[in-house]
Amino acid sequence: MTLSDQPPGIDAARKQVLVFRELPPDQLARLQAVHDVTVADPRKPEERACFDAALAQAHGLIGSSFPVDAALLARAPRLEVVSSVSVGVDNYALDALQARGILLCHTPGVLDETVADSVFALLMATSRRVVELSQLVREGRWVKNIGEDLFGCDIHGKTLGLLGFGRIGQAVARRAALGFGMPVIYHARRPVDLAAQAPELQGKAAHVPLPSLLARADFVVAMLPLSDSTRNMVNADLFAAMKPGAIFINGGRGATVVEEDLLNALDHGTLWAAGLDVFATEPLPLASPLRTHPRVTPLPHIGSATHDTRHAMAALATTNLLQALAGHRPAAVYDAAQA
Ligand code: DGY
Repeated sequence: MTLSDQPPGIDAARKQVLVFRELPPDQLARLQAVHDVTVADPRKPEERACFDAALAQAHGLIGSSFPVDAALLARAPRLEVVSSVSVGVDNYALDALQARGILLCHTPGVLDETVADSVFALLMATSRRVVELSQLVREGRWVKNIGEDLFGCDIHGKTLGLLGFGRIGQAVARRAALGFGMPVIYHARRPVDLAAQAPELQGKAAHVPLPSLLARADFVVAMLPLSDSTRNMVNADLFAAMKPGAIFINGGRGATVVEEDLLNALDHGTLWAAGLDVFATEPLPLASPLRTHPRVTPLPHIGSATHDTRHAMAALATTNLLQALAGHRPAAVYDAAQA
């Protein structure tokens, strides 16, 4: 890989880059062509010393799924940019980054459709009991036609209620409204201008107050980013206000949900089932009742986990980092005001 293979705007003086989660080889090569690169995963005890030493020199960090908190940033006095291979930025100390003028980049846009596919897979698997019934076949328990006790719930024509209506929420809404004839209602801080942002959803998706959404939705799908205002937002009060028999799906962040309240709603309330790609603690602790609950379909945070999409995310994060280190403003700087 040479400089001429790179997009314009990244021809900076060599700087120190710390890669804290493995990157695809072609993206690592793009970095190495321009900068001095250390790859060290702080989650691996044997790489921790290397990570610490590189952090003290780093102008740029790139990676994901590791908390870049204020204490870590204090050990990186030369840092100019953090490039996350994720769209969510809840692992980063936003105030400390802002106070130091360190750019935070992320990967919006390239994962929307893939995450929406995963959310829909979870919605369909949960309502049609796909995992449970497949297990029945695998275990040789399909000895007669299944009875009503194993029937599922319809999806087509049912009402989808979205908590959060960003790019990914809109991609979920398109699948529901255009593919499954589902009326879509959503609750977000402000209504989305559908004519400008999602004309195909005009007349098919409506912004409604939260109590109305909870009372009407057959599927409540949480696509919330994690912030001070959304942490623990989906709690006992919200579960109690959901329509009897509702199915709850979480494709955003686990800590937006009070998991104990979710379990109570499944066991003692009227929630029919839950499909969860995200959890308050990940990986999900073995002791968590959500792991084995018969009416929970759990997934290991796979929203964006396809070869194509993870590569696209890594490529965008690499471009962001290269542009920032060259003194240019990357396209995908995280902007709290827009979030
Ligand atoms: C993200 O990018 O924040 C997603 O959670 C990854 O799946």
